[in-house]
Amino acid sequence: MITKQKGTYDIYGDLAKKRMYVNDVLNALCEKFNYGYIETPVFEASELFHRGVGETTDMVQKETYDFVDRGERNITLRPEGTAGVVRWFIENKLYGNLTDAVKVYYNMKMYRYERPQSGRNREFTQWGFEVFGPDTVESDAEVVSLAYNAYRLLGLDDVKIQLNSLGDTESRMKYREALINYFEPYINDLCEDCQERFKKNPLRILDCKVDAGSDIIKNAPKTIDYLNEESKKRFERLQELLDLMDIPYEVNTNLVRGLDYYNHMVFEVTLRDSYALGGGGRYNGLIETLDGPSTPGVGFAMGYDRTILAMEEEGVNIPINNKIDLYLLAVSESERETAQYLAQDLRLNGFIVETDLMNKGLKGQFKSVDRFNSKFLIVLNDEDLQKNEVVLKDNATKEETRVNINNIVEFLDTHM
Ligand code: HAM
Repeated sequence: MITKQKGTYDIYGDLAKKRMYVNDVLNALCEKFNYGYIETPVFEASELFHRGVGETTDMVQKETYDFVDRGERNITLRPEGTAGVVRWFIENKLYGNLTDAVKVYYNMKMYRYERPQSGRNREFTQWGFEVFGPDTVESDAEVVSLAYNAYRLLGLDDVKIQLNSLGDTESRMKYREALINYFEPYINDLCEDCQERFKKNPLRILDCKVDAGSDIIKNAPKTIDYLNEESKKRFERLQELLDLMDIPYEVNTNLVRGLDYYNHMVFEVTLRDSYALGGGGRYNGLIETLDGPSTPGVGFAMGYDRTILAMEEEGVNIPINNKIDLYLLAVSESERETAQYLAQDLRLNGFIVETDLMNKGLKGQFKSVDRFNSKFLIVLNDEDLQKNEVVLKDNATKEETRVNINNIVEFLDTHM
């Protein structure tokens, strides 16, 4: 038997319905914020993600699905959404006439070769959004607002926003230097990966899953102490705006995020100190890194699968419909044609209608009525049909109403 790959799962039944509900909520919210929908290809040139996300990140070092295709091209399966959306922005020269911010949102499958566990998969979905053009605190605040309100609308009122600033390039360089000076005497006490990170990208050490919680990391210099005046002011102004908008957050000076492209604001959304339900921030240098003209960018991505898990764990009532409106039963072979015709007609009039496709006898069809949880049923029989009539039966109250076949829609409209 061929089974699904480790870290992947099938989506069907109630889970599929829950995801459709979550999609509806998130899509409607994005439309209110005036973001346009975008999808980028599942596979892109490896260079896009390797250069975009950063060669020294864990994601590129250990997690990307890289392969050479039949045309000898180096290909990577999309591990995150931002780099692909930036590629789209550059390729279509949208930087040319930027009088307004370019705002897009996505809901896409991502691929990372990670050790699978609850909420961590190799194929997973991110719902996210990106904003190109503005380098304003207002655009930072809008991104946090859209992220925060998405969780709230999904019923996760207790999410926490952890907020930090990495500052501008100058601040980041100063901070990098401070980290190198600080970690140097402890280098042999760090894990093997961190010893490598020390050489290539010391900020990454703060994110290490192995050394997390150690005193060395706890006592490391804090980003906030290395922000220059301008970056500090900007971070304070962001906090004022978030306060004004009633968006709760906590400043977490250890938050650096696992990807290389961030500067200024970074943030993560968590619930009861569990893994991150989402994360994002500003990436003013990324478009240039990917050969576009210097253009500011900011965005966020929600771990979609994790968010649905959290909703289940928190007991959020996710409305899913497991009922149908009407089941059409055929007493004998001769009514099956009418069942087909009528089912199509009523479906096109907006009702959820089922009829037997398995050639079952009447008893079997009655069992289906209950299995499908049908509100009404009609037992089609030639005698009634010759008079152009049917008997609509309420499956709960057992009440029966005889109506003209042309009045079924009207009846259902008034009784559903
Ligand atoms: P990220 O922090 O790598 O950021 O991923 C965002 C979210 O995706 C995480 O917080 C987590 O909820 C979810 N996630 C990540 N890996 C997995 C996995 N293996 N299984 C399930 N869920 C996962 C980014 O990807 C950035 N592109 C976010 C961004 C957008 N920054 C600016 N714009």
